[in-house]
Amino acid sequence: MKFFIDTADISGIKKAHEMGLVDGVTTNPSLIKKAGRDHEQTIREISALIPGPISVETLSDTAEGMIKEADTYITWGSNIVIKVVMTPEGMKAVRALSARGIKTNVTLIFSPLQALIAAKSGATYVSPFVGRLDDIGQVGMEIITQIRQIFDNYSLPTQILAASIRNPIHMLDSALVGADVATVPPATLFQLFKHPLTESGIATFMEDAKAWAI
Ligand code: G3P
Repeated sequence: MKFFIDTADISGIKKAHEMGLVDGVTTNPSLIKKAGRDHEQTIREISALIPGPISVETLSDTAEGMIKEADTYITWGSNIVIKVVMTPEGMKAVRALSARGIKTNVTLIFSPLQALIAAKSGATYVSPFVGRLDDIGQVGMEIITQIRQIFDNYSLPTQILAASIRNPIHMLDSALVGADVATVPPATLFQLFKHPLTESGIATFMEDAKAWAI
């Protein structure tokens, strides 16, 4: 499973990249707002730092507007993926961009059939939002499992990008059910390192080494 990092915060991206844990980056308008910096400058910096795909979200509500935005965003780096919302206009944009060889990521997916539609439109990635489904009392991971089965049934090449990942269980389940990618905020990514037995084991080794290490 590829690890994408779900942030526009350059320091978090750099920290994870130094550990080889950033196969790509996903951003959205809320993450750009949180980072508090200029959109274009931020994406250009991320794109120069990370060789993998960088998702940049369109804001228009028409296919024409989304395509126009995409034409700007792809000049910001060689690895830009155009993020499009799951709407009929969005799917028109995905079809047109895909025909031009431009990679797309269909976001705000909350059902397996939305994912199937996006795949049929030619999306490179679909982003089902696991945590936001959990928030409303639906088990978010179930749709990842169902999308996996549907895409496998028909050998659809669209990649499943598990999004709205909030905790290590989401990461574990994403890997178990076969998501192609999970996009994870830096804080959640760094949680994955932690295990109390690792920490107590290190402490014991360090204590015992005092008896003999120079
Ligand atoms: O990748 C989508 C993600 O940013 C949404 O996460 O936590 O806002 O539901 P969240």
